Parts: sequence; structure tokens; C-alpha cells
Amino acid sequence: KTADEFFRLHADTALTYDDVTLATRHSAVLPRNTITETELSPNLHLSLPIISADMDTVTEAPMAIAMATNGGLGLIHYNMTEREQIKQVARVKNNIHGLIQDPIKIGPDAYIADVLEIIEEKGYKFSTFPVVDDQGKLLGLLPGRVVKQRYRDRRVIEAMTPRADVYTISTADIEGDPIAAADKFFNEHLGIHKLLVVDPNDRLHGLFTLSDIERINDEQRTNVKPARDREFRLVCGAAVSASRTNDGELDRDRFIGHIGALVDEGLDAVAISTAHGHSEGVGQAIRMVREAFADLTIIAGNVTSAEGVAFLAEAGANTIKVGQGPGSICTTRIVAGVGIPQLTALYVTTRAATKYGVKILADGGITKSGDIVKALTLADAVMCGGLLAGCREAPGQILEIDGKLYKQYRGMGSLEAMKAGSAARYGHSKQDKNRKIAAEGIEALKEVSGSLDSVLNQLAGGLQSGMGYLGASNLAEHKERARYIRVSPAGQRESSPHDVIEVKTNKD
Ligand code: XMP
Repeated sequence: KTADEFFRLHADTALTYDDVTLATRHSAVLPRNTITETELSPNLHLSLPIISADMDTVTEAPMAIAMATNGGLGLIHYNMTEREQIKQVARVKNNIHGLIQDPIKIGPDAYIADVLEIIEEKGYKFSTFPVVDDQGKLLGLLPGRVVKQRYRDRRVIEAMTPRADVYTISTADIEGDPIAAADKFFNEHLGIHKLLVVDPNDRLHGLFTLSDIERINDEQRTNVKPARDREFRLVCGAAVSASRTNDGELDRDRFIGHIGALVDEGLDAVAISTAHGHSEGVGQAIRMVREAFADLTIIAGNVTSAEGVAFLAEAGANTIKVGQGPGSICTTRIVAGVGIPQLTALYVTTRAATKYGVKILADGGITKSGDIVKALTLADAVMCGGLLAGCREAPGQILEIDGKLYKQYRGMGSLEAMKAGSAARYGHSKQDKNRKIAAEGIEALKEVSGSLDSVLNQLAGGLQSGMGYLGASNLAEHKERARYIRVSPAGQRESSPHDVIEVKTNKD
């Protein structure tokens, strides 16, 4: 049955991923030729519709870098200081560039000690800087080999390579295909790692690095397409807390000031994540952000109803997060007795989203690639926590228990996470001493699952197989061609390996 026929027929039962299966369709599409691109807003396109959750055991800069490199998006959590979060976003945005259009510059009168301090404060992973005067005119290049503690008392102008010895290319020479122009230069100048772009007045307009160009060339040889912004930087999102002061008000200056600092670093999407998105405070926070940042992609939630989607869309959100209680560490349904099984919630919300021109993010409850295939018959992207929390790129230490390796994974509504800052997401205050905070999540462990590259490869491969079975060459066709059928308990048992002893092989 089509989605409309199927969910109308099951209107009085809430269903989730394992309750249904998809019918195979005649296909002329090979899985490897399917395109998994999705759009979360006019300004945010992903080549893989997978987003890592804004949870403190899932997404910090290393996860966000790996997610975007694989075509997805990471949402940096907010259980850290605002300053630290800005630093994390800067790390992602500075990770790899084609042409760095606004490279970090140093004035000639600074000391090496100042440069070291900036590197430490911003968390930069590079130490070579163009040196420019007040007008932006190129004076030289400060090489990384002199940016050392032992030279801290030297002035930049004395330590830099002077202008006459710095390799440059003109803005006119990189018109058309800047990467090809830079590639040609590096091939002809072996041993040179930086190339500066200058205009006819010798003002600095950009910087190429050899390692970025090599990496881009490698990417073009594989079918993994990183998710990048207009300036060719990796995309990055961050969650912000819409927490209230003691008198119940949102501190506008602080809230907007923090988002502004993230935007200055190049933030692509801000997420206003709460357990109950269909609430006044969330609407007010979205309106404030939209008013201050007309083009910023706003992800907001969570809701599970058509009215919830309409409310958040009207406030100004672009992408609505759907899911109340499906997450692997969630106890919201048990503690609060609310929430709707995820596939039904996705059906209801995606119908409203089409009306309001917003996108839907299926958040939580994804435990295997087949769930992603099913979710994307309705939603525009999926958000995963537990599936990614065992990866090397997730924050936290690896623990060894009885010879097996694990990483911590906890709900943002667990007591420990709420104490660390996420209490507002669940409508509590961590200072609240009058009543006991009711946890809506648990603390758990995930078996270590290797690198994110290998996990995402498996998930993307599964998605492409599913699209091949449905005869869909892209995600729009995937939605159109989906036909659903309810699965019996015996059918569910039959779906997993059974009546054999599985032989485990090395996964990574
Ligand atoms: P998965 O299934 O991918 O779910 O592990 C991740 C999503 O779960 C949500 N989340 C929570 N929900 N209590 C809840 O009810 C919690 O403590 C909690 N922590 C996270 C969140 O939407 C996340 O993306």
C-alpha cells in the first residue's frame, strides 16, 4: 500500500520500523548508482542524509568532521561552556578547505607569543599565517617552524618569510576552476605547501594548502562526497540551550550573542532541541533566532504531531526533528507516558511538513540500515545517537570489561547529563532544589564499533541497497515508490538470522 493508504488503514495503531516492511519493486537502478542527496534548507545540502545527534557522548568536533567528510552533518552538543562550543565549531570549519577565502591573518607587530595564544584559544590545528598590513596588503608569511615557544619574544615582522619570497597566484589566474589551478601550481612547485591568492593591489584574497588539495583530489576519486558550504568548508551544526532565567525569561542578548559567535565561525545550522518542541518557549526562541539570522538553517523539535510541525514551521524553523521516546536510551514514554511510535509519527508529521514547506528529521530509534531505508520513505534525513556512539570519533574513553571494549552512551535526559547542562531540554533546571528531577534517559555502554567511516559505509550501503530494491534512483523517488505492509510477529522473527550459529568475523 502507498503511505496514505497504509497509514489510513492503521490509523488507530501506532507503528514503528519493525512493524512494517517495504515491498520490492521493478527496478532499473543499480544500488551503486543511487543518489542519496538531501536538502535540509535552501542553504544546507547533504550528500548522505545522516546526522549525528547533539548528545554529549556522540558529537564533538572529531565526530562532526568525520560526519561532514562522509557527506552528513554533526550537531555539536551544548553540555560545555559557550566558549568551548565556539572553539569546537571553529575546529570543524577550519578542518579542510579548497580555497580558504578568509584565512586567519597576523599583523606584523604582533609577537610569536600572541600567535601561540590565538592558536591555543581557537584550537587551530595549523601554525602558518599570512602577515598583512591594516589595508590587507600582503607583507609576508609566518611559517609554522618559527611559531614555537622558544621564539615567543620575537616579533612577527622579524620572523616571517618576506613578501618577495612568498609564492602567490593572482585572483584572475584562479577564475573558473580554482582547485585545478592550485593543483597545477603544487605539481610544478614540489616541496611548497602553501599558496597565497592576491589581487592586483597585492591584497590577500585567500590561501590554498597542498594537503587540502590532495585530499580533495582523493575525494573525487571515490564516491564519497563531503558536505561543504559555499566556501568549500565542511558543514557543521550546533545545538543551543533555550534555557530560562529564574523569572522564566530567555536572556535574548546572551542567546543571540552566542549564536552570532557560532555564525561568525561559519555555523551552518543551529538546533533548538528540546524534549517538547510544541511549547511556547521553543516557539519564542525560534522567532528570536529567525529575526536575528534570516538565512541560518534552524533545526527545531522534538514533536510528533501535525500541529507541532505547523507551530515550529510558523515560528521560522526549516527542519523539524520528529521523535518522542524512540531513542535507545530514552525513557520518556515510560516516565511520562507520552510519545508516539516512530513510523506513525513520521507519517503524520511529514504530511504536515509538505504543506508548510519544511523538512523532517527522523530522530531516534534507528538501530540498523533497514530502519534508515524505512525512515527515508517519509523523512528527509535521519538522526542517530546510539548507532554512532561506539565509534572512535565519539567523545569519551574506551573501557574494557571482561575483554570487551565499550564507550559510554547516555541520554541527555539522564541525571548525569542533566547535571552537566542539559536539564533545560527536559523542562528542568539543574539548580532546581525544590523537587526531584525526573530522569527521562539512562546511562549505558555501547560496544566499540571502529571508525565512523566504516560504520557510515555500511549504513550508506544499506540505504543504497534499499533504494535499489525499490527502483529509486534518488530520495524523492524513494518516497514515491515506497509500498508498505504490516509484519506479523512470526514475520519479524523470520527477518533476522535464525536457526544458525553466527560466525563473527573482524568488522573493521
Ligand atoms: P538513538 O536511538 O539513536 O536516539 O540512540 C538518539 C535520540 O534520542 C533522543 N534522546 C533522548 N530521549 N531521553 C529521551 O527521551 C533522553 O535522555 C534522551 N537523550 C537523547 C534524542 O532525540 C537523540 O537524538
